Amino acid sequence: MEFEYQKISVIGLGYIGLPTAATIASRGIDVVGVDVSQSAVRAISQGKAHFSEPDLDMLVQSAVSTKKLRAQTTPEEAEAFIIAVPTPFLDDHSGDLSYVEAAGRSIAKVLKPDDLVILESTSPVGTTQKLCGWIAEERPDLRLPDRHPDNPDIHMAYCPERILPGRMVFELVENDRIIGGITEACTDKAEALYEIFVRGELHRTNAPTAELVKIMENAYRDVNIAFANEMSTVCDALDLNAWEAINLANRHPRVNVLKPGPGVGGHCIAIDPWFLISRLPNQTPLMRMARKVNDAKPGIILSKTRHQIERFRKPVVACLGLAYKPDVDDLRESPALKIVEMLAKDSDADLLVVEPHIASLPDVLAQYERIKKVTLEDALERADIILVLVGHKKFKKIDSRKIYESVVIDTIGLWKGRF
Ligand SMILES: NC(=O)c1ccc[n+]([C@@H]2O[C@H](COP(=O)([O-])OP(=O)(O)OC[C@H]3O[C@@H](n4cnc5c(N)ncnc54)[C@H](O)[C@@H]3O)[C@@H](O)[C@H]2O)c1
Repeated sequence: MEFEYQKISVIGLGYIGLPTAATIASRGIDVVGVDVSQSAVRAISQGKAHFSEPDLDMLVQSAVSTKKLRAQTTPEEAEAFIIAVPTPFLDDHSGDLSYVEAAGRSIAKVLKPDDLVILESTSPVGTTQKLCGWIAEERPDLRLPDRHPDNPDIHMAYCPERILPGRMVFELVENDRIIGGITEACTDKAEALYEIFVRGELHRTNAPTAELVKIMENAYRDVNIAFANEMSTVCDALDLNAWEAINLANRHPRVNVLKPGPGVGGHCIAIDPWFLISRLPNQTPLMRMARKVNDAKPGIILSKTRHQIERFRKPVVACLGLAYKPDVDDLRESPALKIVEMLAKDSDADLLVVEPHIASLPDVLAQYERIKKVTLEDALERADIILVLVGHKKFKKIDSRKIYESVVIDTIGLWKGRF
């Protein structure tokens, strides 16, 4: 069956929603972007992205200036709705679905027969079905596909996003996608939507399998990073160079140990495994342990740094990077930020923070007189201790002659343990 979309709405214009909305608009489709944040809507309406991501500004500018993309705070009628709102976790680590529920209830008001609703937010298994329920509560006049699989008014699917910050505009088009409909007909309609802009393969399945696949991908990454982090603490205890050992192990044709780091951050890998662990604790001991290992890493870096700080009378520590990964401005769940915050509480060292991707220090650090945001050059010149926390491109260019007199704690292997 052929479907043609003239008008698509994207609900939630953050890291996922905005590139998606602008990319679809670039294919000549009318896109209505909806976000509850006035400031995000204002920036997008002026043709600007409200966060930093390579090539996104250009895409948004062009989509807005050609009037193919409009941003607003309330939903209006469209043929398809893509929901990309946050899914953090609650205190008990279960998924907080309040944003998905609010988004679902808000679009319910404007839904009409034949519309398609796609959930892209990373979600616990069963969320798309819950979304059907919330929409049905708002609109008892509409038949939803979970209760009326043979003749629904609304089609619903779950299609997870797996783009990498820093490469989002490229990966949005090139990556394979998983399309999980509540029914086969739902999958057909969702597949037709992604065919508009995806060059990667589209893989069909059902909604709960698609929900599980996304969590599986992130849990897999978490477990593998935990192994690398554990190996780096083993090497520290044995006074061996972790970077050299891992590099040599990886010369085995069937071994690929990942790179250790200061912990696991961002709002995906550090969060999503909990959607399974909290629901199936008896089936997920490995995933729970991986979370524990990765969450412990900032504390290990703190102890290492404190040990060095004690050698100086008035120590100055350069902290290179706050973001949760290289070359992005995203500080959510960042282990680098956590380490600097712990250092601020735990020591009286002066902390010189270098983070080229943000304009000013976040509030948790700005409250301390002893913490200053400085240039890389300034930090390297004044620091007794250089604590490397993020592998930003700019840091990779540091001339090693400028740092050989300082104590270096290289948590990401920028200099492969040479200092
Ligand atoms: N960022 C990533 O790299 C990434 C990758 C894969 C999956 N995801 C998943 O995608 C989802 C969205 O993540 P993100 O990084 O884009 O989050 P984000 O916080 O950057 O953006 C979410 C946006 O939704 C808006 N919002 C919240 N409630 C709303 C509502 N009821 N109606 C309209 N707008 C609303 C917020 O104001 C915000 O602008 C999450 O589930 C996340 O786990 C993110």
